[in-house]
Order: sequence, then structure tokens, then C-alpha cells
Amino acid sequence: MIDSRIKSVMNFVSAGSRVADIGADHGYLSIELIRSGRASKVIATEKNLGPFEALRKNISGVAGIEARLGDGLKILSAGEVDTICVAGMGGALIVKILDDAPQVVQSARQLILQPMNAAKKIREWLTDNDWIIADEDLAESAGIIYEIISAEKNPPKKIFKRESSPLLKKFLAQRLEKLQSVLDEMSKSESARASEKFQCVMRKAQCVMEKLTATS
Ligand SMILES: C[S@@+](CC[C@H](N)C(=O)[O-])C[C@H]1O[C@@H](n2cnc3c(N)ncnc32)[C@H](O)[C@@H]1O
Repeated sequence: MIDSRIKSVMNFVSAGSRVADIGADHGYLSIELIRSGRASKVIATEKNLGPFEALRKNISGVAGIEARLGDGLKILSAGEVDTICVAGMGGALIVKILDDAPQVVQSARQLILQPMNAAKKIREWLTDNDWIIADEDLAESAGIIYEIISAEKNPPKKIFKRESSPLLKKFLAQRLEKLQSVLDEMSKSESARASEKFQCVMRKAQCVMEKLTATS
């Protein structure tokens, strides 16, 4: 059974899309996209030979998935896919993969990104490159809450899935705890307490606190 993180990525894929699953590893996302009928075709890529061989083995007998060995989106041509999924990697690596293949990215209609960290980098990259966040979700797997971001060029306005997610309260509480521990640490030093960064973290904590109160 696929876990809720992969399921949340899959749920964002527009029906009938041709999908690139970058860093497909075991291929669970690719396989589920074809088995469920959500994707019409998947190009599953892997940079590393070990996971690539596992991928090829797992997808054997599943029609509609093509496995490719190589770096990120560089091994795709512009116009080959409608949707690009990059899941389970750090935010900086996801940004690099997108930056390394601008024509392929520009030709896609949808980006579905699930960073393991540094989600802020992804949001900044999307803004800088004229992508609009169309929806967001949260998923919990083995006690960790993951953020899933779906971006499009001209999405219709809607209320994000994450706003009604049962994980939102827990996610905000964890974020507040992290910000509070940064503030506690900074409070030990007079110069840190007087810094602009301290004020900035305070404002963020206040924002998260207000959102948490509104969510309760
Ligand atoms: C932690 S796994 C995530 C697998 C799967 N996408 C998921 O979300 O469960 C990250 C995979 O990305 C692959 N990878 C890392 N950098 C890559 C790149 N530049 N291009 C393609 N694959 C890459 C790794 O080999 C690894 O198998």
C-alpha cells in the first residue's frame, strides 16, 4: 500500500496528464499513477544506478511507464510531459533540478513538489519564476508531517486542501515549537535579542500563534 505522502502527491495530478516522476526510486508513485488511471503516461527518472535497477524491476509489466537513467529533468525534452512531480528530496535539490532544465519546466502545465526540508526555497523559486501555488496539502507518514505544493501558471482561485487538513493544527504547533526554541536560544544573548532577526522570528511566531488559535 502506498503511504499518505505519495498519495497526496498523486491526488494533485490532473487526470489524464503525462507525468514526469523525477527521482522515482522504487517507482511507487509512477506505478500508482498508471494503475489508478490518473496519468496517461509516466516518465520515471533516476540519477543513481541502484535505485534505477530497482525501479526497472518494479515497473516491469506495468504498461505506460518509461524508465530513464540520468540527472533530473535534463533527460526530458520540452513538451514531453504536462506535470512534473519531484518528491522526497531537499528543497535546494528540487530547485536545482528545476533550474537545470528551464525549457522542460516552461513547457509543463503543473509542478507538484514535495520537499523534505526548505519548503521556503521552493515557494521563493515559484514566485521568482512566475508559477502560482494552486493548492497545498499536508501528509503524515511515520510521525513526520510533509508539505505538498502544487503550482500552475494560471490556476483558478480556491481554498487550499491544507487549510482543512486534520494535520494543520499539529503542523502549526510543531512550527511554533521550533520558532519558540529559536527565540529561547536567541534570548540568552543581549545582542541577539536586540537584532532584526529576533524581531522577525517574533513576528513569525506571532503569526503562527494567531493561525493556530484560529484553527483550534
Ligand atoms: C528519497 S528518494 C525519494 C523517492 C520518491 N520520489 C519518493 O518520494 O518516495 C530520492 C531519489 O531521488 C534520486 N535523485 C537524487 N537526485 C536526483 C537527480 N538529480 N535526478 C534524478 N534522481 C535523483 C535518488 O537517487 C533517490 O532515489
